[in-house]
Amino acid sequence: MSRIIAVANQKGGVGKTTTTINLSACLAEKSKNILTIDIDPQGNTTSGLGVDKNVVENTVYELFLEECSLEECIQSSVMEGLSVIPSNINLSGAEIELISMENKEYFLKNKLDEIKNNYDFIIIDCPPSLNLLTVNAMVAADTVLVPIQCEYYALEGLSQLMHTIDLIKERLNPKLEIEGVVFTMYDARTNLSSQVVQNVKENLNKKIYKTIIPRNVRLAEAPSYGMPINLYDSRSAGAEAYRYLAEEVIEREDEDQWL
Ligand SMILES: Nc1ncnc2c1ncn2[C@@H]1O[C@H](COP(=O)(O)OP(=O)(O)OP(=O)(O)O)[C@@H](O)[C@H]1O
Ligand SMILES: [Mg+2]
Repeated sequence: MSRIIAVANQKGGVGKTTTTINLSACLAEKSKNILTIDIDPQGNTTSGLGVDKNVVENTVYELFLEECSLEECIQSSVMEGLSVIPSNINLSGAEIELISMENKEYFLKNKLDEIKNNYDFIIIDCPPSLNLLTVNAMVAADTVLVPIQCEYYALEGLSQLMHTIDLIKERLNPKLEIEGVVFTMYDARTNLSSQVVQNVKENLNKKIYKTIIPRNVRLAEAPSYGMPINLYDSRSAGAEAYRYLAEEVIEREDEDQWL
């Protein structure tokens, strides 16, 4: 059974895109068939997977405006078994255009229903806001994966995020679950990182992955080469961590708990 995962946190720069790119790629490396969807106008997931966001004709924006079909906007990426629906700056105006549409919260869900079963996982990278695009992702998704950066303000905004997830579950998507919380940019040299992990564990009553993503410069470099970490530096600490995360994500699927 396929699973649709929205990677969301309205806080900026916490590792959503890095997690989307590398979790997708590490799942594809394990022979899973993956579709990654970029719904952030920044288009960083698009370029990080080797798709030139400035030349693609059909993006998630054209899809939303029904100017192209789903098939027309699915691109192949640098990795076998990993396809991408790209995004670029055009999407920044989409919210205003979407607002007048009927069923505007269900737009992505209705599209993905057609193709969901062609993939093992569909992973959606959300923008750093709880806007209509993010709502579309959460309505289409089975689960939400929440990256949390190991920094002093880690808990800030989380209750708002959890409240939004609860609201969407209540009103728009009753089957929505939390996929899990993953700590990112963990710095083993500082006490702060381990304090943040401890603090979030104690205060946030949610499933937290055993895998913790370290701060690793190779993870920051890889996107400028248009490659996920397992292609850019397969033996780096970052690649190892995202492989473990992919295993955890797959193991949870085997338990059938969200089907
Ligand atoms: N584990 C890591 N180690 C080192 N650098 C990282 C790591 N994770 C992310 N980064 C870097 O931190 C910055 C923010 O990461 P990323 O773009 O993944 O966050 P984001 O939540 O998607 O941001 P936005 O909210 O703008 O979409 C990027 O420059 C990225 O390369
Ligand atoms: Mg991002």
